[in-house]
Amino acid sequence: MGGASPSPTERLLRACRGEPVDRPPVWLMRQAGRYLPEYRRVRERLSFLELCRDVDRAVEVSLQPIDAVGSEAVIFFSDIFTPVPGLGVEVEFAPGPTIAEPIRSGAQVEALRAPDPRESVPFVFEILRTLRAELASRELPLLGFAGAPFTLAAYLVEGQGSRHFGTWKRMLWREPALARALLARLTDLTVAYLNAQIEAGAQAVQLFDTWAGLLSPADYRAWVQPTHREIAAKLDRAAAPLILYVNDGAHVLEEAAESGADVVSLDWRVDLADAARRVGRRVSLQGNLDPCALAAPPDEIARQVARLAEEAAPARGHVLNLGHGCLPDTPVEGVRAFTAAARRLGGETRA
Ligand code: CP3
Repeated sequence: MGGASPSPTERLLRACRGEPVDRPPVWLMRQAGRYLPEYRRVRERLSFLELCRDVDRAVEVSLQPIDAVGSEAVIFFSDIFTPVPGLGVEVEFAPGPTIAEPIRSGAQVEALRAPDPRESVPFVFEILRTLRAELASRELPLLGFAGAPFTLAAYLVEGQGSRHFGTWKRMLWREPALARALLARLTDLTVAYLNAQIEAGAQAVQLFDTWAGLLSPADYRAWVQPTHREIAAKLDRAAAPLILYVNDGAHVLEEAAESGADVVSLDWRVDLADAARRVGRRVSLQGNLDPCALAAPPDEIARQVARLAEEAAPARGHVLNLGHGCLPDTPVEGVRAFTAAARRLGGETRA
């Protein structure tokens, strides 16, 4: 390789920007959560919402995946729905987000507030500032995140999680002006929220569009891509690269690559080599092991990691990750094997 290896922060930022690295950096979506005994112990004493708002506990839980599973980046512990009460909408978790009064009318969209997240959810920025100070000595990068407008709107209109989000998708056709107005409000919120996270110390930010893959390519171009482009254009990307995750998005990969994001995060239904051919040098790629594959024995996980790294070799850059988040029944041993295998790609022997 030659020369000293870069710090985990440099490695991640270089991979995001498509600059050469010794090996891919590694972290996992939903790396803090119920699969970790350390997390479950903290959660025994407080609810998920209380945990998101308790700065010391949220910092503690955010840091757990470093030692517990060897992750090389920290994503602050929270949820994509954290900034939503600032709009004036009540959200509960059971365990997924539920909205007592789903948004179905123009009057409800009109009534949404335009909060300054630094005032409506000050604890988020306190968590980020504290984490950034904690991480400085370890040279590990701090990631911020937000839900994308389409995915937030899907829950706000539907009222809860759903397989097809039919109420929301029908709104696109029956009341397009209403749907557009809602997306516009959520886009403004997302821009303000992510820029405030960058200001508070986030070194890269990920936008989660979990449900945008429900649309056809044409509908995605009409409804989703403009929101991503506006967010990418209005973020301070010189300070923090933007990672865009679209679940089940193989059919809209080119559109994701043309969003202005620096990295496109892929689910496991796409071959990384194909993806690299399709997006060329426009973006780096992140992903994309099936989270269920972490149930395999360690040597099989190592083979899968080597396969992903090889597939991703033609990409501009590669951040090793899962294709979706860790699940509550993900084996801790499997996650450890995943990060250890990533380190061995660079010839490091430390597990
Ligand atoms: O990645 C991380 O470790 C940071 C934390 C994080 C959480 N949610 C914590 C969480 C992040 C980045 C999210 C994102 C999120 N939240 C998404 C987008 C990514 C994805 O998974 O598709 C979505 C759609 C949500 C909404 C949400 N929040 C759902 C559907 C659920 C329930 C599902 C489940 O896992 O039970 C939540 C709750 C939630 N968010 C938990 C955690 C750790 C479980 C809370 C608990 O009971 O302890």
